[in-house]
Amino acid sequence: QKSKVVVTRDLGTDVLGRLSENPFVDMVVWPQDCLCDRDWLLENVEGADGLVVMLTDKAGIIKWNLSRSYVMDTAGANLKVVSTMSVGYEHVDLAGLAKRGVRLGYTPDVLNDAVADLSVMLALMAGRNGGEALVHVKNGEWPNDSWSPFSWCGSQLSGTAGRPRTVGFLGFGRIAQATLNRLVGFGISRCVYTTRIGSLPKRDLEESLTEKYRGVNPAFEGVRHVDLKTLARESDVLFVLAPGGAETRHVVDEELLREMKRTSVLVNTSRGSLVDSDALAKALRQGWIWGAGLDVVEGEPNISADHPLVQEPRCVIMPHIGSATFATRKDMANLAVTNVLAVLSNEPMVSEKSVSQDKVETWNN
Ligand code: GLV
Ligand code: GLV
Repeated sequence: QKSKVVVTRDLGTDVLGRLSENPFVDMVVWPQDCLCDRDWLLENVEGADGLVVMLTDKAGIIKWNLSRSYVMDTAGANLKVVSTMSVGYEHVDLAGLAKRGVRLGYTPDVLNDAVADLSVMLALMAGRNGGEALVHVKNGEWPNDSWSPFSWCGSQLSGTAGRPRTVGFLGFGRIAQATLNRLVGFGISRCVYTTRIGSLPKRDLEESLTEKYRGVNPAFEGVRHVDLKTLARESDVLFVLAPGGAETRHVVDEELLREMKRTSVLVNTSRGSLVDSDALAKALRQGWIWGAGLDVVEGEPNISADHPLVQEPRCVIMPHIGSATFATRKDMANLAVTNVLAVLSNEPMVSEKSVSQDKVETWNN
């Protein structure tokens, strides 16, 4: 008997061919490049063995007044695996999966480089007035604007011996480390990071990274675990790269932003929920920090032109494009399909997120 796999987005013929041409799979795919219909989903999910989902599907399900439980119950007892084409999984109902014995696949690692690239891009753009400068030229204002010694000046990412720079990471997983790896080439001299309570400082990692980066920049002082307040106080650029979800909601709040340097830049390329948008808008308006580069914003994609953060001249916002390169998105789609196929043929998934064990995700703010 064939396994039924429902895919909620068109992932392209190369990737989908791996399902459609598999003799043991009966593939059903929503054929358009937009959220699937409510009725299509409910009709097709029935009897599914596997679901390939996107991080936007939760919003769709809520918009249609459905619940994720209802979708899983409609799928029924055959459902064995939900495979999300994302590294984040806070959009998935983990408890619901655990209760039904359904496994979860996700797509870490393959996007580390793409997201690290975008994190550096946002740090540079936010530091150097990139958002405003682009608009200025697009609006045809350059001809009226004469060069002046201190116009358009910003905050510099790169450091030198006489002007040391410290980068900070809130969350120090694979994407954070890929970002640090790039920044060493900018001559930064120190790295501080914070992880959640219960996960110990990564001493071996600190030592091996320090040694490695001293080979590149002899003035590199080291990588050090610090508490959240110290992280905010010491970072010239603070990268937020931790998982979303209730446990990390508003880790970056007014209190933390008030600790940051006036010249510092905040970059968020993880989830909007980690940063209190109102507090950040206030911090920018009142000059507690220099700028912000955001690939994600609380409440996205409903971010209109009059949103307080969009109104802030030194807030550079991208519409959640961190992993959006052709190569990376294709790798993610392929991995999502590989994970489903693994479960259906009783093999280990390449990247499985355990949903049964209780997670301790308390952050030390
Ligand atoms: C993107 O935000 C992802 O979780 O893959
Ligand atoms: C199930 O479809 C989920 O995304 O939780």
